[in-house]
Amino acid sequence: MNDNNTNLYTGEDENYYDPKNVITCENLVKIYKTKDTEVVALQGLDLEIKYGEMMAIIGNSGSGKSTLLNMIGGLDRPSAGKLIVDGNNLLRVKKTALTDYKRNTVGFVWQNNARNLIPYLSAKQNVELPMILANRTDFKKRSAELLKIVGLEERMRNKLNQLSGGEQQRVAIAIAMANEPKIILADEPTGAVDSETGKHIFNAFRKLNSETGVTIIIVTHDRGVAKNVDRVVAISDGRTSSEYIRKISYKKELEELDRMSGVEESETHEELVVVDRHGRLKLPEEYLGAAGISKNSRIKMDLEDEKIVIYRQEDDNEES
Ligand SMILES: Nc1ncnc2c1ncn2[C@@H]1O[C@H](COP(=O)(O)OP(=O)(O)O)[C@@H](O)[C@H]1O
Ligand SMILES: [Mg+2]
Repeated sequence: MNDNNTNLYTGEDENYYDPKNVITCENLVKIYKTKDTEVVALQGLDLEIKYGEMMAIIGNSGSGKSTLLNMIGGLDRPSAGKLIVDGNNLLRVKKTALTDYKRNTVGFVWQNNARNLIPYLSAKQNVELPMILANRTDFKKRSAELLKIVGLEERMRNKLNQLSGGEQQRVAIAIAMANEPKIILADEPTGAVDSETGKHIFNAFRKLNSETGVTIIIVTHDRGVAKNVDRVVAISDGRTSSEYIRKISYKKELEELDRMSGVEESETHEELVVVDRHGRLKLPEEYLGAAGISKNSRIKMDLEDEKIVIYRQEDDNEES
């Protein structure tokens, strides 16, 4: 027997991760401390994202979405738990390695990118700039390729201030791709645009994802995003609460749409509730309402065959 076999994964190794995952996030905690307050922005969040996925993270304002993206992007350090991105343990990584990580592994797209773009340069020059700064010699060819993928082939000679908000956002997406990151992190990328423009932005992401294989994570509070991605993870109070997974892949659906008049949105995704490592789950509000279960009350729970049935305890509610 090989000696290495004695060193099997026990579940305790802080550096262990499934190599299929570009992101492994276990029991992740982020606490913001100020002079007299502590805010627990992430309270034990679990999430795994595979190489090449295009997925969305949704949640109400203040649920911890931007905090999570900032941790993944190396802009801020987690307080505790496990966060491994493309093999980098972000709780342990040294400062110098973190600088390389930010430059090579992740690309950012924000809600309002215009402030990071140079208005008197053309779209193409804006995309070339980070490549020139990184000493790439293929900047002319690569910038043209990227602008083509995001649908700006015809507009790349235009100065930035001659482009619409949505077009500028697509330039920003090309810039985020400039130095071949493994992951694109987009924080509310369609937050400031109308829905038609939002569609173009999502198409740009979709094309980048399928043509280059880059992993794309889109954070939004727009629940309608589900129709544009294969998986949606919902966060509430700094924890993952549920997932919506596409029953048919986006590509297949587009093929179907060509043939039929349309696919009902409710038929394209199924919702899965996340049971965390401690066996906890969050019951959806609508289910509580429909079952007549009030919050902060006791309920009955039975095991029937392989199903867990949860229901209101009759006496509890009759009194009020
Ligand atoms: N730098 C910070 N200092 C203190 N509290 C913060 C900081 N950033 C975020 N928070 C708090 O952490 C929580 C999560 O915020 P955030 O991640 O921005 O949520 P979201 O992006 O989902 O709206 C909120 O309560 C917010 O006030
Ligand atoms: Mg935010």
